[in-house]
Amino acid sequence: MMAHIDIVLNDARSFLSEQPEKLQERVNEIHEMIHNKTGLGNDFLGWLDLPSNYDKDEFKRVLLSADKIKNDSDVLVVIGIGGSYLGAKAGLEFLKVPFKDKQLEIVFAGHQMSGSYLNHLVTYLKEKRFSINVISKSGTTTEPAIAFRVLKSLLEEQVGVLEAKSRIYATTDKQKGALYSLSKSNGYEMFVIPDDIGGRFSVLTPVGLLPLAADGLDVKKMLEGAKDAQIRFSNPDLSKNEAYLYAATRYLLYKQGYKIEMLVGYEPNLLYLNEWWKQLYGESEGKDHKGLFVASAGFSTDLHSLGQYIQEGERHLFETVIQVENIDVDTVIPETKDDLDELNYLAGKTLSYVNKQALKGTMMAHNDGLVPNMLLNIPSFDSYTFGYLVYFFEKACAMSAYLIEVNPFNQPGVEAYKKNMFALLGKKGYEDILK
Ligand code: PA5
Repeated sequence: MMAHIDIVLNDARSFLSEQPEKLQERVNEIHEMIHNKTGLGNDFLGWLDLPSNYDKDEFKRVLLSADKIKNDSDVLVVIGIGGSYLGAKAGLEFLKVPFKDKQLEIVFAGHQMSGSYLNHLVTYLKEKRFSINVISKSGTTTEPAIAFRVLKSLLEEQVGVLEAKSRIYATTDKQKGALYSLSKSNGYEMFVIPDDIGGRFSVLTPVGLLPLAADGLDVKKMLEGAKDAQIRFSNPDLSKNEAYLYAATRYLLYKQGYKIEMLVGYEPNLLYLNEWWKQLYGESEGKDHKGLFVASAGFSTDLHSLGQYIQEGERHLFETVIQVENIDVDTVIPETKDDLDELNYLAGKTLSYVNKQALKGTMMAHNDGLVPNMLLNIPSFDSYTFGYLVYFFEKACAMSAYLIEVNPFNQPGVEAYKKNMFALLGKKGYEDILK
């Protein structure tokens, strides 16, 4: 199967003073730079070939661990933040069947610093059989490190040190960092985040794959989707490479003064894809005082909150709208005799049909309100499409960041708050910062 992301630029094109095809030469140069690994941050391009050359033995261990977790746990606690959390969360939500009882519940911790959240989680886990997947590339990030310390103690109290060891899975660097040393000395099952893959590009490594497989999702299909995307987007031709066409269009809009991009979906399954996407683009492009500000919305919900601003507020934003072609389970609107709610004109229609008209109507209105729109059509909510979409956005992100001439793969700004926080907390080595 070869999925396809269809990208429709019609509306956006009319706003552009220069068409993306004009950038073909520059796109070719950047494409060479990405594939020959000669650009800024070139030691972080491991995600590029990952779908075809991932570690197959480690992948088998991921599947075995996922089976073990399903068999011996009621809850899997995934501990991580940023790129060590958002990819798995996005995938779980993208493929989620709402209101369905699950054999294994997956919860997150260490993705913020809330004492109340952690306290309630500890109480919740007291009566449960649980496992932990702690994820941190650096192995030193404060939020997950604190959560792990607390939850590891709880697990050890609950089942004893020996059994706890067999229920803790660590995903981290292959040889350095506090989490690496701690896990090695405790003998935990360990998975590697490759040196050349940064956090926000790591969803298709064990970072995302273990939680997703533990949820029973078809991670093989995910990698197949990503592999087909890898093949499709290895051609720089803008008429054949939707990822580059998306990158080139958003770049041109940015240059014309549209400084904000909103990623918009009409299904709740897309809400965390938005969050993952915001990190991917925000951290990759927002540097040297450049880059689009990335925002998101879930429609039609947010049409009742942000809708007014989008329609008539300051004209500095454009929208990228994700449309899902096939919704597998739908609701048909019933007919009533009295029609007191005046909805009989919709009787027999599905909600997906109504949702699609909402999308069309909104795009027309926003277009009239001078908000450029791009449409990304994806086939359905399935594992293959998730893998394909992840790779689509990653490849587009590298192209986008290089178009504005920043290093896509570092995040120097993320350190700024940490230094101040460490100084305020009295961590050794940070004493001078507050002077
Ligand atoms: O993309 C990134 O590199 C970051 O967002 C990291 O994923 C995040 O800061 C967490 O870092 P770590 O995995 O080292 O705990």
